[in-house]
Amino acid sequence: LGARIELHRQVDSTNREAFALAQAGAEHGTVVVAEEQTLGRGRLGRTWYSPPGINLYCSVIVTASMPTTQFSQWLSWLPLATALGVAEAVEGAASLKTDLKWPNDLLVRERKLGGILCESGSTASSTPFQVIGIGLNVNGTDEDFPQDLRAASTTIRQETGRLIDRNHLLSRLLLEIEHCLNELTIEGNGRIAMAYTRRCITLGRHVRVSLAGGKAFTGIAQAIEPDGSLQVASLPRQRGGRPEVCSIRA
Ligand code: BTN
Repeated sequence: LGARIELHRQVDSTNREAFALAQAGAEHGTVVVAEEQTLGRGRLGRTWYSPPGINLYCSVIVTASMPTTQFSQWLSWLPLATALGVAEAVEGAASLKTDLKWPNDLLVRERKLGGILCESGSTASSTPFQVIGIGLNVNGTDEDFPQDLRAASTTIRQETGRLIDRNHLLSRLLLEIEHCLNELTIEGNGRIAMAYTRRCITLGRHVRVSLAGGKAFTGIAQAIEPDGSLQVASLPRQRGGRPEVCSIRA
């Protein structure tokens, strides 16, 4: 990953920019990085706060190279394998252990350090591609967040007391993500699923999972399914009743 890197001082969204490049035929591994995003996108239609100069905002174009029978399994593990790669990169570059909240939030002490947004598209000649967007809070402090995000967010600097070279972090990030995606493509999800599960703090907890269309499902998270979904059991409606079990896709 990163044979071609497009650097921007300011874009609306690196995901939007990478998506346009991919539609125009940009190759697997092309990366878009920005110092600042004016319309950073988060999951579930949220926005991603993206001030200049202190964080990492990047998007990677990925195409699958595998038999079509394995494609949907690969696709459903893509966000989780990426999250694992990002966690391993942060640990390697900043000596900071991060937890994962299913499907792909990076947390430290329950506060959000980073997030990942995967989007699918296809070129005019119908070749499918994925854009993986990564946002990481790196060198900011509490004051750099708007008031409403402060309590729930953190940065590498806040957690370690050190400033991190963002170029070094980016190169480590691309290396670890590439490693995890290669593993996923070549060997399937075996090691990835184990390492992901070890870091995942969602399991065993009471969760409220937001679904598309503003709906939500609440219950206890029990397992990561073989296809990367989260298995959630809701409390039975009546005493002695069976729990309702639901698999939620990322
Ligand atoms: C989340 O909601 O947790 C996912 C956030 C993903 C943010 C990153 S920043 C780089 C890339 N460009 C975007 O517009 N979003 C992603």
